Amino acid sequence: MKVLIKKEDLKRRIKELAKQISEDYRGKTPVFIAILKGAFVFLSDLIRELEIDCIVDFMAVTSYNGSTESSGAVEFLKDITMDIQGKDVIIVEDIVDTGLTLDYIKKVLELRKPASLKICVLLDKKKKRKVKIEPDYVGFEIDDVFVVGYGLDFGEKYRNLPEIYCYEER
Ligand code: IMP
Repeated sequence: MKVLIKKEDLKRRIKELAKQISEDYRGKTPVFIAILKGAFVFLSDLIRELEIDCIVDFMAVTSYNGSTESSGAVEFLKDITMDIQGKDVIIVEDIVDTGLTLDYIKKVLELRKPASLKICVLLDKKKKRKVKIEPDYVGFEIDDVFVVGYGLDFGEKYRNLPEIYCYEER
C-alpha cells in the first residue's frame, strides 16, 4: 500500500492543531469526545500535545459495515458517560466523508445543551460531502481515496499502522 501521510507530517500537523486548540480554549477545560473506533489514535496524540487541561470521553457509532462505501445509516453503539450540559465540547473524529456520521453525532450532542460544540477531524474528504458540515479544526484535506492506518480500518484491520496509507484491494 502507498503511504499518503507520513509519520513526521502527522506529528507536525497534530502539534499545530493542539497549539491552536490550546490558544482557543485557554482558561477552559474542554471535553474531547472521540468517536470510536477510528479516532482513538488521533485523540491520544492530540491530547498529549495540549497546553491546557482536558477531559476525555468516548462515543461509538458505525456506518460502514465493512465496505469502503458509506451505508448512509448511522448506528449508535455506545454513549458518552458524562453530562455535557454547560461544557465546552470538541468532537474528535478520524475522517469526515459524506458528513452523515458527524451530522448525526452533532445533532445528538446539541440536544444536551453544551456551552459550545466544535468539531476536530484529522482527515477531510471534502468532495464526497452529502450534508453541510464544516469541521472547525482539520488536519489534512484529502482526495476521494479510501485510507487506512493511524486508527483507520478496512474490515477492522490496519488500525495499528503508524502512517496513513491509500488502501488498495489485493
Ligand atoms: P461519513 O459518515 O461518510 O462522513 O463517514 C465517516 C466514517 O466513515 C468515519 O468515521 C470512518 O469510520 C469511515 N470512513 C470514511 N472514509 C474512510 C476511509 O477512507 N477509511 C476508513 N474509514 C473511513
